[in-house]
Amino acid sequence: MTNNNRPHPRPAHPRRNVAIVGTGSYLPERILSNADLEKMVDTTDEWILSRTGISQRRIAADNEFTSDMAAAAARIAIKNAGIAPDDIDLVILATSTPDTIFPSTACRIQHAIGATGAASFDLQAACSGFLYGMIIAEQFIASHMHETVLVIGAEKLSSIVNWEDRNTCVLFGDGAGAVIMQAAPEGKHGILASDMGADGAQTDILHMPAGGCRMPVTADVLAQKQNTIHMSGKEVYRYAVGAMNASAERSLQLSGLTTDQLQWVIPHQANLRIINSVRERLGVEEGRVILNLNRYGNTSAACIPIALHENCQSGKIKPGDHILMVAFGGGLTWASIVLEW
Ligand code: ACO
Repeated sequence: MTNNNRPHPRPAHPRRNVAIVGTGSYLPERILSNADLEKMVDTTDEWILSRTGISQRRIAADNEFTSDMAAAAARIAIKNAGIAPDDIDLVILATSTPDTIFPSTACRIQHAIGATGAASFDLQAACSGFLYGMIIAEQFIASHMHETVLVIGAEKLSSIVNWEDRNTCVLFGDGAGAVIMQAAPEGKHGILASDMGADGAQTDILHMPAGGCRMPVTADVLAQKQNTIHMSGKEVYRYAVGAMNASAERSLQLSGLTTDQLQWVIPHQANLRIINSVRERLGVEEGRVILNLNRYGNTSAACIPIALHENCQSGKIKPGDHILMVAFGGGLTWASIVLEW
């Protein structure tokens, strides 16, 4: 039996353009430099910098959690958007390091910031999570279901890093970035195009084996450090370049823009060599790529919103600029967005 004759449950408004109206970020105080890592594992500043582009990363305090960093970034975004916390209809937190598996960390954030009217959920798409979150938020606002959505990328990756594994511990850092999204102001386009995808055949090249129902944490599991990040670096590298490039090209094509019409590219900050490969394939000059991995390392879902906030605050990103954001992460997942600032 079909429902073809059932009336549409909501009035059929035309879709509307959606924009970011406020940004925020938070980085923990403690700096862990490559020199510090030289004392922890068999590595050198020269190796880390030349292979990854990372000099230092931030590490959250023992009593500072993903929800705390996320709430701090969200408060700044709320202030910059000129809204009140109870204007927020929906809180989406992209993270691979929730405070707890349940309840969602987004619910903790909702309470911490006083977004009393907001539905809240966590989103798991690893490093692509923030862009997945923005694309979901866009649908709610474009369809008139919601007016104001808070999207956050926040990670305490230091809590799932094996600090004895030099292959991974040099790469990651902690931090949070947030945006407030609403219908674009009159005359603005906001988001022009987006793309998201996944390849579930590659789950095992970047993952944390334990902690879910497949491998509950036991003394053996802990002894084998199965509750930490496991990565096949070379395979991830290879997939990252292809997937980011293909997604960026799809979004660009949908937007009707060419790369020379972009003022800025904000890529996921995993590795400078990955970023340079993607940049060269797209044909974008070095000066138009926004980077922060030298100072913060790979903060997964938080990389892009942190970079966005810092470069809006500094005045580098200006109204009317065209920006391409593109990410790749465990899953495997990828996503990209082209927008007018
Ligand atoms: N210090 C010194 N030597 C190291 C270190 C280290 N920190 N880490 C690895 N090595 C050694 C390896 O053991 C290896 O030694 P071997 O040849 O004796 O076995 C040697 O360096 C070379 O290792 P490679 O894997 O060839 O190094 P590569 O040039 O591929 O760089 C890296 C490794 C940086 C991990 C790279 O593969 C990479 O960036 N991959 C992408 C993965 C990524 O970015 N993940 C981040 C999370 S995923 C995401 O955000 C989407």
